[in-house]
Amino acid sequence: MPFSAISEPDPESHQHKQAYRFCCIGCGTVSKSAAKDFRCAHCGSLLEISDPSWKSLPRGDALKSLWRERRSSNLPSDLSGVWRFRELLPAPASVEQIVSLREGNTPLYELPRSSRSTGVRQLYAKHQGMNPTGSFKDTGMTVAATFARQAGFHWVGCASTGNTSASMAAYAARGGMRSLVLVPEGKISWSKLSQALDYGALTLQLRTDFDGCLRLLQELVQRAPIYQLNSINPFRIEGQKTAALELLEQLDWHPPDHIIVPGGNLGNSSAIGKALLEMHDIGLIARLPKLSVIQAEGANALVRTLREAGGKHLISVQAETRATAIRIGHPASWQKAVKVLQATGGACDEVSELEIAQAKAEIGAEGIGCEPASAVTLAGLKKLQSKGFVKPEESIVLILTGNLLKDPDFTIEFHRGELSAQSTPPNAQLDALRHPPAVLDASLEAVTRALEQAEKSRNENA
Ligand code: F0G
Repeated sequence: MPFSAISEPDPESHQHKQAYRFCCIGCGTVSKSAAKDFRCAHCGSLLEISDPSWKSLPRGDALKSLWRERRSSNLPSDLSGVWRFRELLPAPASVEQIVSLREGNTPLYELPRSSRSTGVRQLYAKHQGMNPTGSFKDTGMTVAATFARQAGFHWVGCASTGNTSASMAAYAARGGMRSLVLVPEGKISWSKLSQALDYGALTLQLRTDFDGCLRLLQELVQRAPIYQLNSINPFRIEGQKTAALELLEQLDWHPPDHIIVPGGNLGNSSAIGKALLEMHDIGLIARLPKLSVIQAEGANALVRTLREAGGKHLISVQAETRATAIRIGHPASWQKAVKVLQATGGACDEVSELEIAQAKAEIGAEGIGCEPASAVTLAGLKKLQSKGFVKPEESIVLILTGNLLKDPDFTIEFHRGELSAQSTPPNAQLDALRHPPAVLDASLEAVTRALEQAEKSRNENA
């Protein structure tokens, strides 16, 4: 047995009376435990977590005030913007089990410039890139790492386009576990790779794409005692639900008309959709916002699945996009995403590399910034508007999933005009967004001339 070197989970790991159940999204089979690959033993579909106690929670206002009160508490579980909402999460054996980096608590920003340029009445960005490791993954990782440790695992593992690995490595380190990262060689940003290295992961760059890494990980976890932390793991989804809970709390529980999310492996859209449906079910919100999913044209598996197969079976693609976080051709959670799109009446669309680059620069110009994969949301909003799916009177929230600093190469290439997407015919709109750095002699005269030039071109573009 080649994996004898890796210890099995501790047998004395915490056993407790658990209230939550795993429910197959395909055939509906309910069970108390999940297989290592988090797939249904009968039909192979993914599982989701539910807890009968969620249905009997105190109605509306009591829960809202409890969550609000916790914002002034200094208990570690209350300082986490995820565990603060623990009534709607699977419960660990005790709060001491929780592995946390004070995730969540991310800002909701207004986007006045983009609101003006798109003509949308109210436009917000919920910036999940403001999480401890710079992406939305932390909100799911705190929950999944907690349950990994509680189950006594020594090793956790993931396949990743970069952000999952950065987040997993951090939470594993905090929880005293070792982590195994499988990433496509040459296809993730150095910033994300550097995080996994610093947090002490065993980082393996495989000569394949993300989908190849995930296939391999799923084989590996069948043979070795490694706990799988991709978003196939339903505990991840539970934690990621809290972005929607926190968003609604920030909007004083007035639902926006529309929430727009980037789509890669489709865990996040599934999580936000699940949260919306649960909030609606237990009476926290009176109506459901539409949830729309946007993909890059070169990684448009869900778009094609809906368009060409009516959402009945997955159409995989050979993924290619500079938005490397969503360079995924065989999204694992496609069935969950189809379900929430249909339940909320949202749309699924695709945007070009040029549209992504432009939208990213526009979000940067708001003083906020994000990584390329997050910018598909603004590009997608414009696309959905042009098709008449989004109306000007709507209030819209874009979910920004990753921090600007996650992929500095993309940003620098954009401003220098070196992105391959920009090598198309000259584009004045794009040029106005570019701010290339200049190298000058260290003289007052040279700097003054540059200032004058900048002021002149600002006035010309005004
Ligand atoms: N945005 C960013 C910044 C991401 O890192 C990802 C996924 C997504 C959007 C898409 O989310 O997969 O839930 O649909 N990144 C994964 C990773 C796959 O490995 O970091 P999704």
